[in-house]
Amino acid sequence: MKNLSQILIIDDEANNREALSMLLTHAGYEVESADSGEKALEIMKKTPFEIVITDLFLPGVSGIDILKKVKEDSPYTNVILITGNASAETAVEAMKEGAFDYITKPFNIEKLKVLVAKALEKSQLVAENLYLRQQLRGKYKFENIIGNSNAIQQVFSRMERIVNTDSTILILGESGTGKELVARAIHFNGARKEKSFIAINCGAIPAELLESELFGHVRGSFTGAVSDKPGKFEVANYGTIFLDEIGTMPMHLQMKLLRVLQEQEVERVGSSKKIKLNVRVISATNANLEDQVKKGQFREDLYYRLNVIPILLPPLRDRQEDIPLLARHFLQKTCREMKRSLMSLSPAAMQALENYEWPGNVREMENVIERTVALTDGDIIEKRDLPQHIGGGEDSGSSMAFQPPPIPEEGVNMVMFIEGIERGMIREALVMGKGVKAKAAALLGINRTTLVEKMKRLDLETPAISGKKTGRR
Ligand SMILES: Nc1ncnc2c1ncn2[C@@H]1O[C@H](COP(=O)(O)OP(=O)(O)OP(=O)(O)O)[C@@H](O)[C@H]1O
Ligand SMILES: [Mg+2]
Repeated sequence: MKNLSQILIIDDEANNREALSMLLTHAGYEVESADSGEKALEIMKKTPFEIVITDLFLPGVSGIDILKKVKEDSPYTNVILITGNASAETAVEAMKEGAFDYITKPFNIEKLKVLVAKALEKSQLVAENLYLRQQLRGKYKFENIIGNSNAIQQVFSRMERIVNTDSTILILGESGTGKELVARAIHFNGARKEKSFIAINCGAIPAELLESELFGHVRGSFTGAVSDKPGKFEVANYGTIFLDEIGTMPMHLQMKLLRVLQEQEVERVGSSKKIKLNVRVISATNANLEDQVKKGQFREDLYYRLNVIPILLPPLRDRQEDIPLLARHFLQKTCREMKRSLMSLSPAAMQALENYEWPGNVREMENVIERTVALTDGDIIEKRDLPQHIGGGEDSGSSMAFQPPPIPEEGVNMVMFIEGIERGMIREALVMGKGVKAKAAALLGINRTTLVEKMKRLDLETPAISGKKTGRR
């Protein structure tokens, strides 16, 4: 894909120009250079650059002239000025004219690298925002769904067409491709947005409870039904119901669901009173429903009723160009959540992310970024900071081949055994994370809430870490 990291260096001193150019090329950027302001303007007419690094004092067209011209022509180019003497006045003038920053000679190489990475980050975010704004024309706010690839743009345009209808939608896609995100976006951008969005994961609820969860029950209809209870369909009335993992629904419930959808009314389990429904139905699955239909595991009539408008979410490996956008999106989000200054990815790290297959799709990327941010101290994520299976230096654990323990003759209590392992890993992660639960959770690839729940269940305390502040961590 096109590498956007384009930098133009302008300096009339050959030594400086070449040293800088070599340094940045070595860091993985695409660099061009010019030995005068006039030449630079000539080059910029043909290609806009993400970053322009220019000497302030040039014979003829000066650094400030270049800065002004760039700001007129290309709003997302960032200009870094190099000044020979640290004259406060010129620096102030440059900043007023919209320079990204300035650096005084002789400069610190690391400082310059950080500056370049930050400038790039900023120019790319601005470019993205401009692009997204144009794409959406302010009409619908799918702004939390990131992606510029054709594949995802097609999803957007289909979504735009159906948000204000009541048509039944089936969202298809591998695990972690954003099915629930899309379902929510459809609801919250449509006419029903003031009403409920009720999600139910058909695969996570035991089959014997699913019926009453969906359709409700009356008191005494089965053991444990101590009072009347409305089902999710009733709760979602006038809003949207999201039937997740629809492919796991047992056959006898498929029959009942079909009837509810056809009649648009529901009866609670144990009651014959019909309740009128006006619910938009969005379902989702990562299974191949057509295949399941062929194998007789999914009712064909229900399949057609659910699949009025299909939305297919492509796996991340088929929309590689979205990878940098998503990576930066999650980087921003994570840094904000962890209350640290915005980090950036080195070009090599970004390349590694682009080359990776992402079997767990966007969700996997979100986890990888969270974990990497938690484990990286500096402002720039280098390739070596990434998990090993993505090309980094340290083993992330997810590629670890786990050898199960031998099972003794007399058997083993697997649940207790696994709890023992969990307990040990959580303790270690808490120590590594200096008692900060968010850090420990990131180390374990789970979210903070899950960690807290597990700690409660396993009766674990946060270890006392010297210097640790109290309060929510
Ligand atoms: N295009 C995207 N832009 C931003 N975030 C995304 C995008 N796609 C997915 N995500 C994020 O990735 C995570 C997984 O998305 P989601 O839960 O919607 O996936 P899913 O397809 O329902 O996965 P599963 O099949 O595992 O339930 C969520 O945190 C979601 O916000
Ligand atoms: Mg989901």
